[in-house]
Amino acid sequence: MMSIWTPVLFGLTGLLLFSGCSGRPSFPTVGQLAEAGQLPPDADRNQLSDGRIIMLTQCHGCHRIYRPAEYKPEQWPSISRRMGKLTKFSREETDCLRAYSVLTSRWLRTPIPPEPPVPSEQK
Ligand code: HEC
Repeated sequence: MMSIWTPVLFGLTGLLLFSGCSGRPSFPTVGQLAEAGQLPPDADRNQLSDGRIIMLTQCHGCHRIYRPAEYKPEQWPSISRRMGKLTKFSREETDCLRAYSVLTSRWLRTPIPPEPPVPSEQK
């Protein structure tokens, strides 16, 4: 379906998934983490993708959705424990939330390395 709305739709999707000026997604999927080389070899992919869904769907009943990058990786375990209790999560759900928030916060808070200098034009 190509219509005049198609570019608008793509634009909106891009805005939602890649908001912020860093060019990194706010809530990266497991695939995006892997692509960025941020997935440890022993990572539990199901746990991480469940953690992502939890952050996007279970947390806005009481306040706005917080992004992983808003807090340091060291802060997320205690936030996960506190919010897991408030949300009446099982141990497993709290573990998913902690695993995802810690891993993605670590990546998203790492400064983006500067672009390599543009090589002078080859003649
Ligand atoms: C039952 C209501 C409730 C739910 C559901 C809830 N929160 Fe909260 N959240 C609070 C309250 C109340 C505060 C402020 C008091 C506090 O920090 O304990 C808060 C604060 C926070 C903060 C700020 C913490 C700080 O130290 O500044 C973060 C981050 C957060 N919540 C994340 C989450 C996440 C992620 C979820 C989903 C798993 C979630 N919350 C679900 C009630 C809730």
